[in-house]
Amino acid sequence: MDTRIEEIKGVLKKYNQEHLLNHYDKLDETNKKILLDELENIDYELINSLYNNTKKEDKHGQDEITPIDYLDKYKLNDKYKYYENIGKKAIKEGKLAAVTMAGGQGTRLGHNGPKGTYDIGLNSHKSLFELLCDSLKEEGKKYNTTIPWFIMTSKENNKATVEFFEKNKYFGYQKDKNLFFFIQGELPMIDTEGKILVDENGLIKLAADGHGGIYESLVKSKMTEKMKQLGIEWVFIGGVDNCLVKMVDPVLMGVAIDKKVTVACKSVVKANPHEKVGVFCKRNGKPNVIEYSEITDEMAEATDENGELLYGESHILCNLFSVDAVERMGANPLPYHVAYKKAKYMDKNGDIVVPDSPNAYKFEAFLFDAFGEVDEMAVLRVKREEEFAPVKNSDTAGTDCPKTARELYEKYYNLS
Ligand code: UD1
Repeated sequence: MDTRIEEIKGVLKKYNQEHLLNHYDKLDETNKKILLDELENIDYELINSLYNNTKKEDKHGQDEITPIDYLDKYKLNDKYKYYENIGKKAIKEGKLAAVTMAGGQGTRLGHNGPKGTYDIGLNSHKSLFELLCDSLKEEGKKYNTTIPWFIMTSKENNKATVEFFEKNKYFGYQKDKNLFFFIQGELPMIDTEGKILVDENGLIKLAADGHGGIYESLVKSKMTEKMKQLGIEWVFIGGVDNCLVKMVDPVLMGVAIDKKVTVACKSVVKANPHEKVGVFCKRNGKPNVIEYSEITDEMAEATDENGELLYGESHILCNLFSVDAVERMGANPLPYHVAYKKAKYMDKNGDIVVPDSPNAYKFEAFLFDAFGEVDEMAVLRVKREEEFAPVKNSDTAGTDCPKTARELYEKYYNLS
C-alpha cells in the first residue's frame, strides 16, 4: 500500500496536484480505496491540456462554416415509400436498436432525480422514460419485434435510474435481454488555477463528460459488442428530454441505407433565427452542428433565395448511426468544450465551500463533434409538431418547458 501511495504522490507532485491527498487520512477504508483508484485513473496530461485550453481564444473562430444539404421527409414524393420499404425491411430483420441519453438530472426542472423519471404533468402522470418506452413498444408491435433499448446513465443517477425501472417492472421490457443500462464517463472539475477540486466527501470532484462520451462509453461497456451479437446494425441515439422523440423511423433508416451513409440525422426548421438550438452545417467541409452560443447574428438571420434560413435545420438530438460508425467514433477522442460553473468543494482546510458565483471548469464533449469523422451524412427534415417536444426549462421560462411539451404531446396523441 505504501509504495502505491508513494507512486501516486510522485505523479501528483509532477502535476502540481498534491492537495488531492490532503484529506486521505480522514477517509474510511472504502473511500481511501476509491480515492486511490480515482487518482490512478486521472489522465493528468489531458487535464493539463484542458486547463491550458481555457486560456486560449476560441479556435472555432477560424473554421469555415457553410450550409448543408437536407431532404424534406414530406417532399420525397414517390421516393418516400421507396425509402420506407427499405427501412421497414431492416427493422423487421431486427437491425435497429435505440439508445437514450439519460445522464442528466432534472435539476433545471426543480426535480430531484434522474431527468427521465420526471412527470411532465399528463393525466396519466407517466415519466419521460415511460413515454419513450410506450412509443418504442408501439413501434415494435408494427414490425412484430421488440426494439432493443440501451439507456445511458451517469454515475450520479445510475442507481436511481435502475431502481426506478425495477420498481416499474421495466415497463414490460426485459433487463439484459432487450433493455440494457450503461454508464457514461466523467472528468474531474478544476479551479481557475488548474487544480483538481476535492468533493465534499474528500474524493475527486467529478462531472459527466457530456453526451459526446457516448461513443466511447458504448464501446468500453461492450454495448456495441452486445449489439453485434444481437444482429443490430443501426442505432438511433436520442435524448431523454424530448417526449415526442421518434426512435423508430423507417424512412430515416431507408435514406441511410440507400445513400450508403453511416450517419443520418433528423432536423426541424428553426422556429425563429434565434431559437436556442444547434443547427446542421458543414465545418471545414465536414458535417457538423453549430451551437446557438456560437453562431453569429448575421449567420443566424441569413436566408436563401426562397427566404428560408440558410442555417435553419435544427439539430434535435435525433441521430441514427451504423454500429460500425459508433465504434469508429469511440476510438477517436473528441474535443472538450468548457463550461464555467458553480461547484461546491472541500478546501485545503477541509471546509466545504458553497460558491455563489462560478468557480470551476467543467469539460464536456458533444456528440455532434464526431460527425466530422464521416465525409457525408444525411439530414432529413421532419415535422416539429410530430417529433420535437423538449423539456429543458421550468414552466416560468415559457419555452421548452413541461407545459409546452405536455401540450405538444397531447395534441399529437389527441389526448386533449
Ligand atoms: C442540445 C444540443 C443542441 C440541440 C438541443 C435540442 C448540445 C450541446 N446541444 O442542447 O444542439 O439543438 O439539445 O434539444 O447537446 N446528456 C447526457 N449526458 C451529458 C449531457 C447530456 O446524457 O453529459 C443528455 C441529457 O440527459 C439530454 C441530452 O443529452 O437528454 C441533451 O443535453 P442538454 O445538455 O440538455 O443539451 P442542450 O443544451 O439542451
